Amino acid sequence: MIGQASIGVFDSGVGGLSVLRAIRAQLPDVPVTYLGDQGHVPYGPRPLEEVRDFSEEITRFLLSRGAKLIVVACNTASAAALEHLRRTFPDVPFVGMEPAVKPAAEQTKSGVVGVLATPATFQGVLYASVVERFAQGVTVLQDTCPGLVGQIEKGALEAPETESILRAALMPMLEKHIDTVVLGCTHYPFVIPLIERIAGENVRVIDPAPAVARQTGRLFVSRGLRPPARANESVTVYTTAAADSMKNLLPLLLGEPGAVRELRWVQGRLTE
Ligand code: DGL
Repeated sequence: MIGQASIGVFDSGVGGLSVLRAIRAQLPDVPVTYLGDQGHVPYGPRPLEEVRDFSEEITRFLLSRGAKLIVVACNTASAAALEHLRRTFPDVPFVGMEPAVKPAAEQTKSGVVGVLATPATFQGVLYASVVERFAQGVTVLQDTCPGLVGQIEKGALEAPETESILRAALMPMLEKHIDTVVLGCTHYPFVIPLIERIAGENVRVIDPAPAVARQTGRLFVSRGLRPPARANESVTVYTTAAADSMKNLLPLLLGEPGAVRELRWVQGRLTE
């Protein structure tokens, strides 16, 4: 596993672009292949086994396109599949997401923190284990923000409906005096301005993307990987739905335009 390498990043849709944005800032010379499984978004309400199967095939696809390190830029897929992927591809380094309950529990003054994530993430053993290990003595409130992923997939970052979903999640938490909100879904950093407007300046919002990008950089270097001398395209984006929506959202969500290629699921396999 020594030599020139690209990074594979995936999510159910556009959410992982919040992580990709941070990876681009951290490792600007490393080419990245991004896959948004928009044909299946949202992952959150799906059974963990189904998300695990999607994640395995997506990983296979990214490896076939030259990725040497995989970032599971999706809390739901990490909850459903990270352990399975590490067992199935033992030579491949993986970086996954877990809700940032640890820094929240360390920083809270009120002793009450809120976590926003999908139903599948809350069901997974990963979440139960971070709460058990790191949140002793802290009250952890949870909300699944139904419909929020769909709004962000549409690019409706400031729409009234987006605001009412967030208000419904945050107001009961604010009444219980949360001072920290953990973003446990990679779609949610795109609505941080709205969350901050609703929650006010005394509530800290934790976006794990920069820490995940730093971990990706450390792993990339420690595995002896290096970017190719001449990369043709620095970001290659695939979607499993029609390309237009992803293409239109790239400048807004990633901060750079790019070509988007379409993939299809055929009997559990991805084909171009
Ligand atoms: N962005 C995802 C996450 O981090 C998945 C959202 C969804 O598809 O439900 O959990």
